Amino acid sequence: MADATDLLDAGERLRPDELRELQLERLRTTLRHAYDNVPFYRESFDKAGVRPEDCRSLADLVRFPFTTKADLRDNYPYGMFAVPRERIRRLHASSGTTGRPTVVGYTDSDLSMWADMVARSIRAAGGRPGDIVHVAYGYGLFTGGLGAHYGAERLGCTVVPASGGMTARQVQLIRDLQPSVIMVTPSYMLTLLDEFERQGVDPRATSLRVGVFGAEPWTERMRHEIEERFAIDAVDIYGLSEVIGPGVAQECVETKDGLTVWEDHFYPEVVDPITGEALPEGERGELVFTSLTKEAMPVVRYRTRDLTRLLPGTARAFRRMEKITGRSDDMVILRGVNLFPTQIEEIVLRTPGVAPHFQLRLTREGRLDRLTVRAEARPDAGAEAREAAARSIVAAVKDGIGVSVDVEIVEPESLERSVGKIRRIVDLRPKNAG
Ligand code: DLL
Repeated sequence: MADATDLLDAGERLRPDELRELQLERLRTTLRHAYDNVPFYRESFDKAGVRPEDCRSLADLVRFPFTTKADLRDNYPYGMFAVPRERIRRLHASSGTTGRPTVVGYTDSDLSMWADMVARSIRAAGGRPGDIVHVAYGYGLFTGGLGAHYGAERLGCTVVPASGGMTARQVQLIRDLQPSVIMVTPSYMLTLLDEFERQGVDPRATSLRVGVFGAEPWTERMRHEIEERFAIDAVDIYGLSEVIGPGVAQECVETKDGLTVWEDHFYPEVVDPITGEALPEGERGELVFTSLTKEAMPVVRYRTRDLTRLLPGTARAFRRMEKITGRSDDMVILRGVNLFPTQIEEIVLRTPGVAPHFQLRLTREGRLDRLTVRAEARPDAGAEAREAAARSIVAAVKDGIGVSVDVEIVEPESLERSVGKIRRIVDLRPKNAG
């Protein structure tokens, strides 16, 4: 790929010392803005005995209290907003699969910054002004669709706002409109792959050149699978609605070595998920973000529950975060062993005879939890190949993760397909049980 350095925006060109200076200035402004305008922050800072002016260096941030999803829920719907409601130009909301939804708001300036960050992300992924971008993230309260949409427009692309679902039509649109970039969850990309094959179209022969995949964890093996099957570059985009939506961090196509955090707007920390203690750079833990330029809903030390580590910059001067291995909420503790769905993904995707579709079923027998990996057979896999695949997955989980699981190889096309974020874990354990 041609050197893209001349395409970088002013923020991406900052030298490390300039970046730190800008971050401190923005951090101080954010803390002041949050303290003065959001009763929740005033109370929590007061309780912790800190004032915005106590932040004299970036290292002082650790003295400030965390903000959690529960705090956002407790202040539902508008309690976390730092500007009058009339200045809020748009609302988004989380799906609320675990309890009350959380609402987030944006001023004009927030929407503009968000579009800039997504435009920067698409460019880092290899998209260029003039490209046709097919957006198959869901449009609506979810930040994926509209976030990707305005970013692609800001970059100067032609946007196809396909949203999620109606898979046969998506494939038709890709064939007819000839996009070079697709933005979609990796799991829905696999659903599209099936549909290409069903329609007898070679997925390697499409106009697509780059895929910008995120909104759920996915592994290096999944990257390999998608890149091979579609003959595209597959890069990772990260974000969460509480911080802004997609475009908090983005993998650069020239290195594909983790995601560059757009640190001029989102200040990252990694903390011990149990004790909350800040961890030295390079250690794995829970990712925490403080927004540096948001007006409508500044977040101070927001606990993402996503697990990763911070690494020095490569393709950009900004720090990177390693591809996310999982969320603390998605971790299954099976007879004392911690297990993440991404670890199973790595194994399933390297097992011959099975398709890249799987589900994890948690059940309880007596006082014992059991985990069943349900993986789909490839259409050409006969009984013997299926049995071999099952044995191989059992052994790989036992050797690699250190725990026994059951494996069921199910019929091709029998597992539910993703149209957006996939849910890997089906928890059938009785509720309220120990
Ligand atoms: O998923 C925003 C987004 C849309 C990101 C489109 C990328 C692309 P939420 O619905 O608030 O926002 O969910 C945020 O999704 O805390 C992670 O657990 C997970 N997540 C998002 N991107 C990635 C990624 C959007 N690249 C939650 N890798 C986050 C792993 C991701 N997990």
